[in-house]
Amino acid sequence: MSPTALYVHIPFCRRRCFYCDFAIAGDSEPVKARYVAALKQELAVWAQRRAAPLQTVFFGGGTPSLLSPAQLGEILAAIAQVFGIAAGAEISLEANPGTLTVATARAWRALGFNRVSLGVQAFQDELLQVCGRGHTVAAVYEAVTAVQQAGFENFNLDLLMGLPGQTLAQWEESLQRAIALDPTHISMYDLILEPGTLFARRFQPAAEGLTLAMYDLGRERLLGAAFEHYEISNLARPGYRCAHNLTYWQGQEFYGMGNGAASLVDGCRWERPRALKDYLAWVEGLQEPPGGDRLSAGEQLFEVLMQGLRLEAGVPASALEAFPENLVARAAVVFAGFVQQGLATGSDRWRLRVPAGWLVSDTLVAQLYEVLVEKPRKP
Ligand SMILES: C[S@@+](CC[C@H](N)C(=O)[O-])C[C@H]1O[C@@H](n2cnc3c(N)ncnc32)[C@H](O)[C@@H]1O
Ligand code: SF4
Repeated sequence: MSPTALYVHIPFCRRRCFYCDFAIAGDSEPVKARYVAALKQELAVWAQRRAAPLQTVFFGGGTPSLLSPAQLGEILAAIAQVFGIAAGAEISLEANPGTLTVATARAWRALGFNRVSLGVQAFQDELLQVCGRGHTVAAVYEAVTAVQQAGFENFNLDLLMGLPGQTLAQWEESLQRAIALDPTHISMYDLILEPGTLFARRFQPAAEGLTLAMYDLGRERLLGAAFEHYEISNLARPGYRCAHNLTYWQGQEFYGMGNGAASLVDGCRWERPRALKDYLAWVEGLQEPPGGDRLSAGEQLFEVLMQGLRLEAGVPASALEAFPENLVARAAVVFAGFVQQGLATGSDRWRLRVPAGWLVSDTLVAQLYEVLVEKPRKP
């Protein structure tokens, strides 16, 4: 079946936050105009293989809210023309506090966006400053008010745990303030010290005991506020799980557009050039839909398990029937070790216990990689 999810990368940011290593570029009007044209050019080649209409479209960044509503509308119109967008599709936009007003949020609604994801990170000005964020806590409140006044009932807030100097009390305050704003979805990410970032050069990881306490507290407070903890880092009110991200976690295929964006189409996973200038040059020469090497059966099974075990629902055993028995057996041996330790449950669904199993998921993923991806490649 052809993919029904599309990710569109919008790389522009006013400044680089000190922890971030996403594929981003400076906020310049001429470059933004060139980029919109390039996206439309990339979209055009997909017209050759137009299939099922899209059920989810996700504009992520970078800072998609730095494009004007007119530019966002141009891209959406091109997407609708090439792929078609199903009635009732989830159409999300990532936005930074400080980059929107009620008028812009209203314009997004009018274009068809029905979900906004705001990067809040923390509700303390001193922590926002440590992160190099270009906005204050007051701007977070203004952004949420704008989104709500424009009629978006479905919005997400991103929060970060384990920031330099962040205390459990500050985290608790961030959780309380986030809940009080009544979002439908909250992502709580454990800070990753990405190599090459200012954070990685300047700071040590937060003590494991502290980040575990933050995770436990986040889970407790959000479950108490009627959120469902449906994925390791994501919680949603009933009916508001992120349909777009679920396509990744459920191992379904997806289209991607823009610099650094990945796609998984017809069993081929493919990443576009990450640097903006390389992407623009690549689009110039594009004649037909890009493709890459088909993933091996081991790689495909690894992806399905790595993504699916992030979900509370886990991976249905029926989803593994399509894979060669010897590979599934290899994965089952690894998984059984976690079941024996009381960290996972098997049979009709492979699931990690929540939250104990999720906390060791990195170890499980590394072991699955070894038996599914590395081992079959050995001569
Ligand atoms: C792709 S970013 C775009 C969001 C938007 N540009 C913003 O910053 O408000 C989505 C989220 O990823 C998270 N993120 C970025 N870098 C991270 C890191 N090094 N570790 C953990 N989470 C990170 C942040 O919470 C951020 O809001
Ligand atoms: S966190 Fe968001 S705003 Fe900050 S640099 Fe990364 S993508 Fe840009």
